[in-house]
Amino acid sequence: MEHGGEAGYDESGVAEDREVTQPDHEPTTQRAKETKETKDGSDALFELPAVDPGPELGPTGRPLPDLPDPEPLTSHGPAVVIAMCNQKGGVGKTTTTINLGAALAELGRTVLLVDFDPQGSLSVGLGINPHTLELSIYNLLLGRDATLEEVIQPTVMDGVDIMPANIDLSAAEIQLVSEVAREQTLQRLLRRVRDRYDFVLIDCAPSLGLLTINALTASDKVIMPLGCEFFALRGIALLTDTISKVQDRLNPDLEILGILGTMYDPRTLHAREVLDRVVDAFGDVVFHSVIRRTVKFPETTVAGEPITSYASSSPGADAYRMLAKEVVQRCHAE
Ligand SMILES: Nc1ncnc2c1ncn2[C@@H]1O[C@H](COP(=O)(O)OP(=O)(O)OP(=O)(O)O)[C@@H](O)[C@H]1O
Ligand SMILES: [Mg+2]
Repeated sequence: MEHGGEAGYDESGVAEDREVTQPDHEPTTQRAKETKETKDGSDALFELPAVDPGPELGPTGRPLPDLPDPEPLTSHGPAVVIAMCNQKGGVGKTTTTINLGAALAELGRTVLLVDFDPQGSLSVGLGINPHTLELSIYNLLLGRDATLEEVIQPTVMDGVDIMPANIDLSAAEIQLVSEVAREQTLQRLLRRVRDRYDFVLIDCAPSLGLLTINALTASDKVIMPLGCEFFALRGIALLTDTISKVQDRLNPDLEILGILGTMYDPRTLHAREVLDRVVDAFGDVVFHSVIRRTVKFPETTVAGEPITSYASSSPGADAYRMLAKEVVQRCHAE
C-alpha cells in the first residue's frame, strides 16, 4: 500500500500494532548500547541522532496541506450550495451537515442548513420537534401559502439558520412528479435565499429518488460522506453514475467537492484498510479531514447542538473545523 504504514495514523493505532510486531523486551545487548553510566552512577539514554520526520502525514496517509484560517468576510453571499449525499443510510450525512455548518459559522460564514429528508433528523438534531412543526420546506416546495420568513428558523448556532422538514416532505416526492420541471423545484426555491448566505448545506435522504435529484440539481457541489466500514464502497458507483446523469441532463456545473471518511476507528486495521482503498480509488477527491467514530456524536443529537459547542475541544470538533477550512479552500469562497 502506497500510503500505508503506521506513520499516518494516530498514537493509539500505532501503539496497538507495535505490540504485535515488536518483542516484549529489548535484548540486553541492544539496551547496553543505548545507555551509559553518568557521573552520579545513574543510567541515561544517549541522544539519538535527529531523523528528518518528513512532511506530517494526515489520517488518510497523505501529507497534510497548509490550511490557514480563511480571511474574514466583509459581506455575505451569494452562497455556495452543497448537497450531503449518499444513498446508503447512517453514514454521517446529517451529522456532517450540522457540524460542518457550525464550523463554517465559527469561520465567520453565514450558513443555511436545508433538511431535505422526510425523516427530519437534521431538524430533530437541532432541537426542532417535527410533530409540532406547522410550516416546513414542504410548504415552500409546493408553493403552499408560506413565506421564507415563516419557514426559516434560527438555530442555537450564531450565523446558522435551518429550513426544517418533517414527514410531510415524503408527500412532496409524490406530488412533485406531476409538476413541470419537477427536478428544478428546490433550485427555484434556493435562488430566493442564495444572496443571504455564504453556504447552503442540503442534508439528503438515504435514497436516489426525486428529492435527491432535486438536491443535486440545486447544488454547486456535492460532498459524499462514506463510513469507513466493509460495505462502504458498495453503491458508490451508483451514486457517481447518478451524479454524472444530473451533470449531463440537469446541472452541468455540479462538481464533487470531496469524499469524507466518517466513523473512522484508527484502532482497527479494517477501518484503515477501507480508508486506504478509498484513497487508492479516488485520490485527492478524498478530504484530508477524517471523522473518527466517537460516542460524542450520538450524544450531541440528544443535546440538540453541534459538537463544536457540546465538546468544543474534542477531536471530533477539531476534525469538523479542519473540514470547514478544506471546504472553504476547495470552494475558493474567499
Ligand atoms: N463519527 C461518528 N462516530 C460515531 N457515531 C456517529 C458518527 N457520525 C454519526 N454518528 C451517529 O450515527 C448515526 C447515523 O448518523 P447520521 O444520522 O449522521 O447518518 P445519515 O447518513 O444522515 O443517516 P440517514 O441515512 O439515516 O439520514 C447517528 O446516531 C449519529 O449520531
Ligand atoms: Mg440523515
